[in-house]
Amino acid sequence: MNQPTINKPRILTGDTPTGRLHLGHWVGSLENRVAMQSSYECFFIIANVHAFTTRAERPEDIRQSVLEIATDYLACGIDPNVSTILLQSEIPAIAELTFFFAMLVPFARLMRNPTLKDEIRDKGLGDSYSFGFLLYPVGQIADILAFRPDMVPVGEDQMAHLELSREVARRFDQMYCGVDPQTPDKEYVAAGGLFPIIEPKLGRVKRLVGIGGPSEEGRLLKMSKSLNNAIFLSDEPDAVRKKVMAMYTDPNRKRATDPGTVENNPLWIFHEAFNPDVHWVQEAEAKYRAGGIGDVECKKKLVDVLVNLIEPMRQRRQTFERDPGEVWRVLQRGTARANIIAEETLLKAKEAMRQDLLPRSLAFNL
Ligand code: TRP
Repeated sequence: MNQPTINKPRILTGDTPTGRLHLGHWVGSLENRVAMQSSYECFFIIANVHAFTTRAERPEDIRQSVLEIATDYLACGIDPNVSTILLQSEIPAIAELTFFFAMLVPFARLMRNPTLKDEIRDKGLGDSYSFGFLLYPVGQIADILAFRPDMVPVGEDQMAHLELSREVARRFDQMYCGVDPQTPDKEYVAAGGLFPIIEPKLGRVKRLVGIGGPSEEGRLLKMSKSLNNAIFLSDEPDAVRKKVMAMYTDPNRKRATDPGTVENNPLWIFHEAFNPDVHWVQEAEAKYRAGGIGDVECKKKLVDVLVNLIEPMRQRRQTFERDPGEVWRVLQRGTARANIIAEETLLKAKEAMRQDLLPRSLAFNL
C-alpha cells in the first residue's frame, strides 16, 4: 500500500460507462494512467450520470457497464491501493458544482463545442438530443474541478471539454476569488484562486481509428463501441484474431502483389500504435507499398502483437470477474475517499461565492 500521496501532483480523468474499454481507451489514456499512478495522486471517475445523456432508456446497461469499467480498470493495472476509483452519481458535490458552473458558461459557447458537434454527427443524434446532453460538458467540468487536479490525461476528442474547464476555472477565480485576469495560468492558485487551470495530457495516440473502415464521407471513424468497430481489452484471443482478419485495410488492393497504401490504412495505424518491433513495421510498410507482402501476413502479425498486449489484462480480469463483490468494495471505498475532497471543494466554492450560509456535513460509508 502506497503511503499518503499528499505532495504528489493530482490527476483526474475517467470514462463514461457505455460498454467495456477498448484499445482506443488504452492508447488514449489508460496507458498513461497506469504509468503515472505511482508519481501522481490519481482519481478515476466512472461517469455513470453522463451515460444517461445518450442512453437514458437503458439504465440496466449503464449499471452493468459501471461494473465492466471498474473491472477493466483493475484488469489493466490500476491499483486501487494507490489510485482512487469513484462513481460519479454518488458524489453529490459534482451535481451541485455543475449547476453553479452552468452559470459561467455562455450558451453560445457550448453550442460551438466541436466535441459535441462531432458526437451529434457520429452518433446520428440529429436534433433529438436532450438538454442534458448539452449540459454534460459542464458536468465534466465539475467532475474535474471538484478534485482541483493539476493534470487531466484524455484522448484528443476531450480537448474541447478541457478548454472549457480552463475557461470556467479562470472565470470563477477572477469573479469570486479576486484573481487578476493577467495572471498566468500556472499561477492562479498561488494568486488566491480556488480552481487550478488544468493541464491536458494527451495519450501517445491521439485518436485511434476503428477496425470498420470509413464513414460515407470517407473519414476513418474513431474506435467506439457504439460504432461497432472496437477491439476490447477483454476480448479473447480468438475474437481478436477474427476482428483483425476482417479489419478494413486498403480497399483497392486485390492481391499481395498489388501496390498498397499505408496512409490512412487501419492495418498500419494499428501496427504503428501497438507493434513494439518498429524495424519490422518500417520494412513491412515499404514492402506493402511495393506490393511485396500480403495483407494476411501483416494481419497475422498484428494479431500476435495485440494478443500479447491484451492477454495479461484479460487474465487478470477473470480473477475480478469471479469476485464482483471486491470490485464494488473498491468503488465504495474510492467514492467515500473522493467525497471528502469534493465536499471540501464545494464548501470552498460556496465560501468564495458568499453562499456558505448554513453548515452541513454528509456521512459517507467507508
Ligand atoms: N467524457 C469522457 C469520455 O466520454 C469521460 C469523462 C467524464 C471524463 N468525466 C470526465 C474525462 C472528467 C476526463 C475528466 O471519455
